[in-house]
Amino acid sequence: MGAALVTGGGGGIGAAICARLAALGHAVVVADLDPDAAERVAKEIGGTAVRADVADPAGNAAMVARAVDAHGSLDVLVLAAGIQSDVPPDPGIDTQRYHRAIGVNLDAVVFGVDAALPSLQAAGGQIVVVASLAALGPEQANPVYALTKAAAVAYVRAMSTPLAPRGVRINAVCPGFTDTPFLGITGRLLRKQKIPLLTPDEVAGAVETVAAGSGTGEAWTVVPGRPAQRYEFPDVPSSLRADGTEVVLKPFMSAR
Ligand SMILES: NC(=O)c1ccc[n+]([C@@H]2O[C@H](COP(=O)([O-])OP(=O)(O)OC[C@H]3O[C@@H](n4cnc5c(N)ncnc54)[C@H](O)[C@@H]3O)[C@@H](O)[C@H]2O)c1
Repeated sequence: MGAALVTGGGGGIGAAICARLAALGHAVVVADLDPDAAERVAKEIGGTAVRADVADPAGNAAMVARAVDAHGSLDVLVLAAGIQSDVPPDPGIDTQRYHRAIGVNLDAVVFGVDAALPSLQAAGGQIVVVASLAALGPEQANPVYALTKAAAVAYVRAMSTPLAPRGVRINAVCPGFTDTPFLGITGRLLRKQKIPLLTPDEVAGAVETVAAGSGTGEAWTVVPGRPAQRYEFPDVPSSLRADGTEVVLKPFMSAR
């Protein structure tokens, strides 16, 4: 078991993922915006803490450098850092909140993959992105949050092809409501309505399942009462030529 780097590892789902990966024998690097939270989790699991703002390319570069410095290589990257968008679907959009949500939930996926790729490629490693059920259905969250998570899943699916020849797998895990501070007041409302919530460890279990598999470009749903399940996306309609024959497109991107 090699080194694993977990963003958002200082709290909630990320912390549970850190604990799982450590129990599996990985040397875990806990990256979080909150240095005390990262330190606390790292201490609990015998890992290494690093403060990083994942919305910033420099933060991603620094956390990967810390992981490689400590362990020589990187086998697993879990991108779990995320925030609520706090952008209601009403006129007068708060552009600062909007850009922050895009930064932490989406830019961080792109920058995190980019920063870690050379080390992951050397180790034949893999990436798991913690997205959300909000990426797959319209009813789970507000539109800006759904936008960030749906884009993250689209990125995972599209990146799987260019990453495959490099020996790097990339998948997404899409949890439903999970009992963490992230839910805020919504958590109280859901509990009041007796709507079951996932535990962070159940989501971590799904990450373990996906990481132990062999697939790439997949999105896995996690909901209370059901095992983690690979989500089946419908086929995109193929184009037809004037003579009625079907246009078959082959992936046209190749590794740099
Ligand atoms: N809790 C849910 O209901 C739920 C459901 C589906 C998906 N998710 C997703 O799961 C992931 C983890 O959520 P959670 O419930 O554990 O939330 P959480 O708020 O409990 O924990 C998130 C962690 O990310 C860290 N973080 C926030 N911004 C950061 C930044 N810019 N750089 C680095 N670290 C940062 C926080 O300090 C915190 O430790 C998020 O991506 C979230 O969108 C959560």
